Amino acid sequence: MCGIIGVLGNHEVAPLLVESLKRLEYRGYDSAGIATINSGRLDRRRAVGKLVNLSDLLVHEPLAGKSGIGHTRWATHGAATTVNAHPHMSGKVAVVHNGIIENFRELRAELAEAGIAPQTQTDTETVALLTRMFMDRGMTPREAAVATLKKLDGAFALLWLFDGEIDLMIAARKGSPLAIGHGEGEMFVGSDAIALAPMTDRITYLAEGDYAFVTRAGAEIFDAEGRRANRDEQRIDLGAARVEKAGYKHFMAKEIAEQPVVLGDALRHYLPNGQLNLPEGLDFADLDRLTLVACGTAFYACSVAKYWFEQLAGLPCEIDVASEFRYREPPLPKRSFAIFVSQSGETADTLAALRYCHEKVAKTVAVVNVPTSSIARECDIALPILAGVEVGVASTKAFTCQLLVLAAMALKAGVDRGHIAPADLDEHLTTLRALPGLMNTTLGCSEQIEKLAERLAEAQDILFLGRGPMFPLALEGALKLKEISYIHAEGYASGELKHGPIALIDRSVPVIVLAPHDRLFDKTVSNMQEVMARHGEVLLISDGKGLAAASEGTWATLKMPAVAEPWAPILYAVPAQLLAYYTAVAKGTDVDQPRNLAKSVTVE
Ligand code: F6R
Repeated sequence: MCGIIGVLGNHEVAPLLVESLKRLEYRGYDSAGIATINSGRLDRRRAVGKLVNLSDLLVHEPLAGKSGIGHTRWATHGAATTVNAHPHMSGKVAVVHNGIIENFRELRAELAEAGIAPQTQTDTETVALLTRMFMDRGMTPREAAVATLKKLDGAFALLWLFDGEIDLMIAARKGSPLAIGHGEGEMFVGSDAIALAPMTDRITYLAEGDYAFVTRAGAEIFDAEGRRANRDEQRIDLGAARVEKAGYKHFMAKEIAEQPVVLGDALRHYLPNGQLNLPEGLDFADLDRLTLVACGTAFYACSVAKYWFEQLAGLPCEIDVASEFRYREPPLPKRSFAIFVSQSGETADTLAALRYCHEKVAKTVAVVNVPTSSIARECDIALPILAGVEVGVASTKAFTCQLLVLAAMALKAGVDRGHIAPADLDEHLTTLRALPGLMNTTLGCSEQIEKLAERLAEAQDILFLGRGPMFPLALEGALKLKEISYIHAEGYASGELKHGPIALIDRSVPVIVLAPHDRLFDKTVSNMQEVMARHGEVLLISDGKGLAAASEGTWATLKMPAVAEPWAPILYAVPAQLLAYYTAVAKGTDVDQPRNLAKSVTVE
């Protein structure tokens, strides 16, 4: 992960670098740093922890200069210390890096033979040291950067700045995205277009393997073989890039509350006038299989969708987490679609899984929130989820919008394959269209959930149970809770509990049961009874019918609006998110930027 930014400007760049880093902080917040060329000489400031620490440092120790690079770090190699913070400098070279230099140990050995010792524990420093070594041997900065690139294995986006070279920045991309921004007599480079939004909307994306010599007059781009390359300049609509809390205490709270609105946007896009509206080329009729691949919350969205595709369309559906899928190298039938779900569209493992599937399947399809992302650009068909910018590290509105788009696809698959009769389709569409309203009602439970969260905040372990498509939602509820409250939580298929996890049950382990009154309800309730018989404290989340039938003996209940099968996971995501949110608030953790995490995971 990590975010990088570079500016060759006409004014002082330090404030611009910090503003851009603020927009990149979702990529990591272990440390931040900037380097500028001040009166011809490189100088830097670095601070451990969030960007605000760097901003404070710059108040006391400002950094002048009109050319600069910056970095916000999610630590991979080396602890989060000032020494390990970027930019890394050696001699006349400063470097910022996103990604991993996989052969850095071998490169260090090579540098050691030349008498050059590292000062940090990072892989990135090797890049600065190699470039310096080549310059010491008489190469120009451009020659030295290209010679360094030839030695690097791994995935990276890199930016170099050189002492005495106020009009040169070198950028390179392999595996990690990099956008070049064009200004009037100014040039910018950043990890994404959002970072460059305050400066420009004219963007050129570097292609895989590209490097570029950037000056204030423009960018000369070369491909991996060193040939001059033309890459299109695009105008990016950055209106959507605005990020404000709009009066909420946390972005996560705002994003949970926004769900009725953004789901409404997605519904208008995919279900206009009571019809399904999906891009051409998405014909599921003759497919033998679907493969859905993603990470984290997006993987749980795929796991829910597996139930939908199989039950509504009779379409066999394989799901896998991208980090396993890519190295498992599974055989894929040609008559299949591979679907990749990603909020950021930049997750390294998901991107690698997509690349593995090219040519092997009939079509690669992306379900993404960032339409300009690498995954969106590299797949055959991209479906935007239209959730708007999601800032909170814990994914909320992106999850429900992913589910909505997958639901529309599952219904289309059902129609294409003759599994859904027209009257049933109408009923499903009516249910989906009612979801924003039902979500509004559900958000009304916030105060009750806040109270329940006081008890949950005292727990050491919490279990979530669900059956059918509510099972992946149990996994998602547990993930949400652990990532922001740091309480250990697990999700289980209700029927699986007695095969081991029931040993965990005692009075101190709250068990949250997600059980709409559907055809599996009685079975889930039996499993809930097994928990209560062992003094487990159950919070039952169900609709009026479910609560009337099974509230007795529970610790607490939460009433949900009734929603027709199989769409309850979209609605029940809301109480799961709110429980996590209020528990984290009760514990006083950093809700929007929980420890050890980052929003966009661009390393594998
Ligand atoms: C959890 C969360 C992560 C992401 C995962 C994939 O709340 O946000 O688990 O879902 O890192 O990220 P994307 O969707 O950007 O590929």
